[in-house]
Amino acid sequence: RDKLTTVRMREMKKEKQKIVMVTAYDYPSALVAQTAGVDVILVGDSLGMVVLGYETTVPVTMEDMIHHTKAVRRGAANTMIVSDLPFLSYHTSPEDAVRNAGRLLQEGLADAVKLEGGRDVIEQVKRIVKAQIPVMGHIGLTPQSVHQLGGFKVQGKDIVGAKRILEDAFLLEDAGCFAVVLECVPSKLAELISEKLSIPTIGIGAGESCDGQVLVYHDLLGINNRYLPKFAKNYANLFTQMVEGIQSYADEVRSGRFPTEDYSFKMSDEILAEVKK
Ligand code: KIV
Ligand code: NA
Repeated sequence: RDKLTTVRMREMKKEKQKIVMVTAYDYPSALVAQTAGVDVILVGDSLGMVVLGYETTVPVTMEDMIHHTKAVRRGAANTMIVSDLPFLSYHTSPEDAVRNAGRLLQEGLADAVKLEGGRDVIEQVKRIVKAQIPVMGHIGLTPQSVHQLGGFKVQGKDIVGAKRILEDAFLLEDAGCFAVVLECVPSKLAELISEKLSIPTIGIGAGESCDGQVLVYHDLLGINNRYLPKFAKNYANLFTQMVEGIQSYADEVRSGRFPTEDYSFKMSDEILAEVKK
């Protein structure tokens, strides 16, 4: 199967073929996502919360993102990889934005980058696109703004907020984004934006009308046993299975049932006798 391109993604929108995106953060998760046949892997800065154990995505650094993007690429050579620009890697200047976006491609081997925000980051988006790096936008609930937003809440529920998000979507398309994530916005607003834009919308907590969907790997598979946001559907409960696996191992070690001969190596009696001398 050929790796998806940003050009092909636009065609998929026209053909009403849904785009499937999932996050991955390391070699095994990338291998699973690619084997399952997803269209796009996002190395999200949700990494900070689901893999590194931070309360928010704010502490995630460029070094974290590069380290994990490299591992994801090793597990998914034939899948489009979008890597998140972390907090403060693009806010300081368009130059910093280009340099850091470039690092995600050059060192991390990502195919594209994603950054959060609308009107406030348009200059950055334009400059990154000018450097020939594909950019995915991300509006609505933007987790890097959690301290400004006052929590992880639905965005765009009132007239002013909804208009702002719609305008930001247009600005991102005009600035050259190849797609835009809509996170935690009312379904009707996401539907309107999806109709108005010619680039695909990828929804998370944004209803059924988006051109694609994204979920966080650990939420989708139930790996962390953590509080799940309303929009995250559990398709498996691996946490329980993993705990049970380790408990069985612990029981068998403690009771002497593991390892048995099947898991051990032999030595001839003659050699043993010599060694004992
Ligand atoms: O970091 C992330 O996982 C994301 C998605 C939730 C869109 O940005
Ligand atoms: Na993110």
